[in-house]
Amino acid sequence: MKLFIGLYCSFIIGLALYLRQDSALAQSMERGKEVYADFCITCHMAEGEGVAYTFPPLAASDFVNNKRTESLHAIKFGLQGEITVNGETYNGNMAPMGLEDEEIADVMNYIGHSWGNALEKMVTPEEVATLKK
Ligand code: HEC
Repeated sequence: MKLFIGLYCSFIIGLALYLRQDSALAQSMERGKEVYADFCITCHMAEGEGVAYTFPPLAASDFVNNKRTESLHAIKFGLQGEITVNGETYNGNMAPMGLEDEEIADVMNYIGHSWGNALEKMVTPEEVATLKK
């Protein structure tokens, strides 16, 4: 019986933690959507499709999905020089936008779970804070 209660409690606690992380992600994405509309949409476009040869796509981007740290670094400190996104080469310049760590986490959670992207773990402001220029 003790074992049963123990198992039952762990299940409930596990479920609660899972749901909490889920709604934290949904809230972060909601905020990130606004950051995206304010700061990113002009270049990367409404559905993250980008502009051919000029602004790389964020939609189904192998860069966003496989280069989590580089993507966060790019959003925080800017990015220039040659990169390859989905087999296409870009050599442009994205200036840093002066966003707070929390806004960077939010916008990355938004793009990382939109348009065919699937980031494994939720991004937190703490993770963004560890990035060095
Ligand atoms: C002025 C245009 C511009 C704006 C605004 C802009 N970007 Fe970019 N972004 C670029 C360019 C150009 C590159 C490629 C830079 C290079 O070639 O090295 C890029 C690259 C990226 C990349 C890595 C490549 C990819 O396509 O996956 C990510 C991630 C990214 N941007 C996210 C964002 C986010 C999030 C915002 C808003 C907070 C944003 N960008 C705002 C122009 C812009």
